[in-house]
Amino acid sequence: MGHPDDAPRPAVGEDGGMRTVDAPLALRGLLIGTASAATQIEGGDRNNSWYEWAESPGNVADGSSPVRADGHWLRWREDNALMAELGYPIARIGLEWSRIEPRPGEFDHAALDRYREELGDLVDRGIRPLVTLHHFSNPLWLQHAGQWTNLGAVGAFERYTRVAVGALRDIVDEWVTINEPNVYATQAHLFREAPPGNVSVRDLRFVLRHMAMGHLRAYEAIHELQPEATVTIAHHLREFAPRNPRNPVHRLFTRFDSWAFQDMLTDAFGRGVFPWVLGRSPVPAGRYVDVIGLNYYSRTAVSGPADGVFPGVPVTDLGWEVYPQGLVDCAARLHAHLGVPMWITENGTADNGDDERLERFRPRFLVDHLAAILRSKVPIERYYHWCFVDNWEWSEGEVPRFGVVHNDYETQRRTVKPSARMLSEIIRAGALTPEIEDRYAAGLEYPTR
Ligand code: BGC
Repeated sequence: MGHPDDAPRPAVGEDGGMRTVDAPLALRGLLIGTASAATQIEGGDRNNSWYEWAESPGNVADGSSPVRADGHWLRWREDNALMAELGYPIARIGLEWSRIEPRPGEFDHAALDRYREELGDLVDRGIRPLVTLHHFSNPLWLQHAGQWTNLGAVGAFERYTRVAVGALRDIVDEWVTINEPNVYATQAHLFREAPPGNVSVRDLRFVLRHMAMGHLRAYEAIHELQPEATVTIAHHLREFAPRNPRNPVHRLFTRFDSWAFQDMLTDAFGRGVFPWVLGRSPVPAGRYVDVIGLNYYSRTAVSGPADGVFPGVPVTDLGWEVYPQGLVDCAARLHAHLGVPMWITENGTADNGDDERLERFRPRFLVDHLAAILRSKVPIERYYHWCFVDNWEWSEGEVPRFGVVHNDYETQRRTVKPSARMLSEIIRAGALTPEIEDRYAAGLEYPTR
């Protein structure tokens, strides 16, 4: 595991500016697009757990609600058209379970038709959708019945999966069952950052067990309905590194955090092998993902149970370390463990820009992460940047801006940022070139901590 001093340093270009790419790096088949989640962009739905959570003062930093978000539920045509204009070949899109199954066992076919229209339109425009079935939010009926602490969530998720996949299988054949079970479970049941704001290690274990069971059931169900489908989870991995590599306590916690937060779940979801803390696995050991989705954002400096950041490192607007090498290191570990192709299902940064610019350093972030991917030997086939239009950032509300397209939340006006155009150029050129880096990222620097 690296220390800050081992991180590759960018080269200095002829003009004296920092440069990461000194010769074209061919995409070699890497497909590039963006990712999003239903609750963060759609707006309008009052039947999900995050809507209810946002209603209580203090739960969302700026007091905003997902009921506004990007108004994408009504503006999807405009967003699809913009994505097509930018020439992105792939997109990760989420479904809102509470719209599709507003009451237990009762399905809203108008909502499914509406998703058919949106996804069909993407396909007609030449954009291949990867669809997420569960991304942090639950229908209120499930939330009020104990959400994923309740074993009943497993069967409910399978039932919903069968209906959603059954309705969309002629349009979609790539699925993410569950997004970031580790982030969902710890925020909801340990850190009080997500509904129901619980603190219970016992419940945390039930949630992870049931989510793993839900994924395994959904994996089988989707393949039954659509044998040729590509099915995965979006697994959130961080690079954990000891704050002081010579300190045995830091090293011990680094190993423990990495195992407890992510590695044990790689086995449970990807191989059906449950660690003792999750109880007995319901399936024989095998392979339960067709590719593996990796959501990678940052590195954590470990000195104890709490998260930390190395001093003096480049950081995003949310204070997360920018550490591109961590993406390929995490991808390499996942690939070595599961032996399936890698898709980066999320990677991105909060960059709120300044008075003159919509973004200050995102193009540099993109260059550095894409260069790391293109230089690595790991078979990474997809890169979904988080996210397309700035979106509602859960407990942080509308403040952090992750999009390559700016959103004015008052008017819902979209404005394309330089990063969005840079991605188009890379896709069109089939390579990340020094010229593209110079045009978009020259002179851009990360904030430091
Ligand atoms: C989540 C996204 C979120 C992003 C940035 C990921 O963990 O899947 O929903 O917006 O991080 O915070």
